[in-house]
Amino acid sequence: MQTILVSSQKGGSGKTTLVRNLSVAATGDGRSVLCLDLDPQGSLRGWWESRDADTPAMLDRDPVPEALRATLEAAKAQFDLCIIDTPPAAPGWLSEALSVADLVLIPVKPSPDDLRAVGATIAAVDAANVPFAFALSQTPRARITEEAARVLAQHGRVAPVNIAQRVAYAETGATGQGVSETTDDKAAAEIAAVWSYVKGLLNG
Ligand SMILES: Nc1ncnc2c1ncn2[C@@H]1O[C@H](COP(=O)(O)OP(=O)(O)O)[C@@H](O)[C@H]1O
Ligand SMILES: [Mg+2]
Repeated sequence: MQTILVSSQKGGSGKTTLVRNLSVAATGDGRSVLCLDLDPQGSLRGWWESRDADTPAMLDRDPVPEALRATLEAAKAQFDLCIIDTPPAAPGWLSEALSVADLVLIPVKPSPDDLRAVGATIAAVDAANVPFAFALSQTPRARITEEAARVLAQHGRVAPVNIAQRVAYAETGATGQGVSETTDDKAAAEIAAVWSYVKGLLNG
């Protein structure tokens, strides 16, 4: 089993949205996926509970962060991939959680505030010495998006496809779907491309 941790200390950067959509895309690609919600706000679980399909899977209860390693150990016989959502903060357990990941994904909104805030997340992944990549999220079609990609590229890999600002991402928060299960073909295509990139990183 491989483990992806979605992390960014900034609220609203798109963590939960990325976990939802990547987990649906990976499921659609034949992976047996477990989602874990380590954010006490429970936004990932709220989405999952309004979902019709029972894949990707969630546990009856999410582990306390201190039990993450044991939970992953127990899940590895049943799942190919675990995708973990985290709170917008730097709790004491963060470095341990980062260190159990095969890959950390960091969604970043292309705004000056978000770029300023990403330094703390970069410091945490560097300290944990774990492979990571940025994904630009909620991107407008504007020069600021390209500028943000350029800034982030100085610190690490940036997914070659942006997750654009689209109503489908917000709406599917209520319906329990992934955008690939809606009629928004552009959203579906970009998530497929992000998953394809992530898959390459996991294999590489
Ligand atoms: N690509 C997107 N397009 C439109 N709305 C988005 C997009 N990504 C996230 N959102 C919305 O922005 C808000 C914050 O996103 P969320 O994924 O919850 O961030 P985080 O988990 O990092 O706090 C949510 O209301 C979500 O529906
Ligand atoms: Mg969240």
